Amino acid sequence: MAEESAAKPFYTVLVLAFVCSALVSMAAVGLRPLQEENRRIDQKTNILRAAGIYDSNQPVDTLFADIETRVIELATGEYVPANQVSPESYNQLKAALNEELSRPLDRENDPAGLQRLEKYSLVYLVKDGEKIEQIVLPVRGKGLWSTMYGYVALDADLQTIRGIRFYEHGETPGLGGEIENERWLSGWEDKKVYGPEGGVAIQVVKGEAADDDEAARHQVDGLSGATMTAEGVNDLMRFWFGDHGFKPFFDRLQKKGE
Ligand SMILES: Cc1cc2nc3c(=O)[nH]c(=O)nc-3n(C[C@H](O)[C@H](O)[C@H](O)COP(=O)(O)O)c2cc1C
Repeated sequence: MAEESAAKPFYTVLVLAFVCSALVSMAAVGLRPLQEENRRIDQKTNILRAAGIYDSNQPVDTLFADIETRVIELATGEYVPANQVSPESYNQLKAALNEELSRPLDRENDPAGLQRLEKYSLVYLVKDGEKIEQIVLPVRGKGLWSTMYGYVALDADLQTIRGIRFYEHGETPGLGGEIENERWLSGWEDKKVYGPEGGVAIQVVKGEAADDDEAARHQVDGLSGATMTAEGVNDLMRFWFGDHGFKPFFDRLQKKGE
């Protein structure tokens, strides 16, 4: 019997490895458009959920038809024309990493631990005809272990929270991870963001929110065993509803009476 070449198993493994890696790369490239589409649908679903208008019986794109996506300049609160920054293709999180499209935040102006702030933000206007009913705003900030990403839906009064959703984070399931808990999230509805002096007053408290006094308007129940995550949520609210976040946009809307 002819003796097997010692190199044969080596070449067999090499060819197999090559074929497998080619198959995996082809699958990865082929599936990319599908992944992108799923990501797009997922983001829209999160926005609809924050606004309380998600309906699993209807296609997401149909429900999203009443939502106008705009880009604003955070510093001025002005809308940015679509031919300058396209709302369809603008990637806000990528922009925050781009030196030309963002600026560094110094510590005292960075309670949410962002380090850099993008120049432009997406905003989602939930409309009934021409009238703005709600505005859904993307927010993010550091929790205990991770950056927490979410959407806050604000009533057209620019004060009352209609809903909030966190769609990505790395907090501990059962502790900080309870920021996804529907029951806890429902406690945000109808709470008021700004206090009588105009500062950001909304906050997750330790323990239970006050019952029915003035403070209760701004208080959300605490997350038991997750005070640090809750503090992170408070910090991100303070940032995004403050002067470096969406406040200039709200001031501009109020001035124009939109
Ligand atoms: C394994 C482990 C995971 C934890 N995960 C979280 C978390 O996701 N968020 C959080 O705020 N605290 C978390 N903690 C608890 C914090 O260390 C800290 O004790 C807690 O925030 C205090 O909250 P409390 O005052 O409500 O007990 C974790 C602790 C351990 C041991």
